[in-house]
Amino acid sequence: MSLELPKDRPWLFAAPMSGYSDTVFRKFTRNFGADLTFTEMISAEGIIYATNKTTKYLEFNESEKPLSVQLFTADPRAMKEAAKIVASMGFDFLDVNMGCPVRKVIKKGAGSKLLSNPQRSIAIVDAALMSGLPVSVKLRTGFEYADYEAIITLLEKFRNLGVKFATIHGRTAKQLFSHKADWSLITNIAKNVDMPVVGNGDIFTVQDAVEKFNPNLAGIAIARGAIANFELFSQTNDFLSNKEYREINLSERIDTFLSFLMEEIELRGEKKGIIYCRKQIMKLLKCVPDSSKLRAYICQIESYSNIRKILKNLKKKLA
Ligand SMILES: Cc1cc2nc3c(=O)[nH]c(=O)nc-3n(C[C@H](O)[C@H](O)[C@H](O)COP(=O)(O)O)c2cc1C
Repeated sequence: MSLELPKDRPWLFAAPMSGYSDTVFRKFTRNFGADLTFTEMISAEGIIYATNKTTKYLEFNESEKPLSVQLFTADPRAMKEAAKIVASMGFDFLDVNMGCPVRKVIKKGAGSKLLSNPQRSIAIVDAALMSGLPVSVKLRTGFEYADYEAIITLLEKFRNLGVKFATIHGRTAKQLFSHKADWSLITNIAKNVDMPVVGNGDIFTVQDAVEKFNPNLAGIAIARGAIANFELFSQTNDFLSNKEYREINLSERIDTFLSFLMEEIELRGEKKGIIYCRKQIMKLLKCVPDSSKLRAYICQIESYSNIRKILKNLKKKLA
């Protein structure tokens, strides 16, 4: 039986991120208050051919649940087959990627390119639904330009097929990450479609969530803002549930990050775990004034105890 999303308050999701949303990251986002986490996007064809890399992406622990597996493909038959496989693995939801703007993906007609091929996107959603899992979609506001009418029409079709919700990143595929996410467009879509819509884009602080969330939305999804900042979920959750939240300082984030790093090391081994987390260490230290030398230095370190020493010293300096 798949797990349900909250009925009494807005949803808070940890949006999928390739290269970040692994089993440890997902566990932390859940522990800090995300209602639903997603695997990074996984190729349906990769699942069918069970490549080593793909099999790794599918590993999860019960502590991450409810958990959604996100698949991408341009081929409805591949979706049908892959969806059947993931349904037998214990995922709670299946999310169809219609937002990825990366050339390698759109070249094949998958990801955000599906937005310019409604017939194919409908066939893919239909195939995903055959798995019996609750299905959701993640999309941008258009491929080349934001197309309110087309998105509404598409979402109505998805709703009629049985899709449970849509997460909308308020940019077009062409915009990549330029411009600001258009939350008024997301809200207008939410107002005019009979399906829960989760808004996504540019929530880096709880203040951003306060400004962007409105009751037309079923919830919000956070991606980049959660990197080395899992506390953003507890703060945002407190805001969405009680309209209040606690300020969190870098010292607390350092402690959380060290436990996260330790778990990544347990999963991958010391050297690989540290290398995997390097981007996240950089993100953690970005807000420390004059830290460019420290960041360059820490990038060379391959032992947990040394990273811990440096970060603990930093904590003392900040105190
Ligand atoms: C490094 C990175 C990897 C991403 N990978 C995925 C992915 O696998 N699937 C997906 O639907 N979106 C992916 N996204 C998009 C995010 O889920 C999200 O829609 C986007 O970053 C906007 O939200 P944000 O402003 O909170 O980061 C990725 C974004 C980033 C920055």
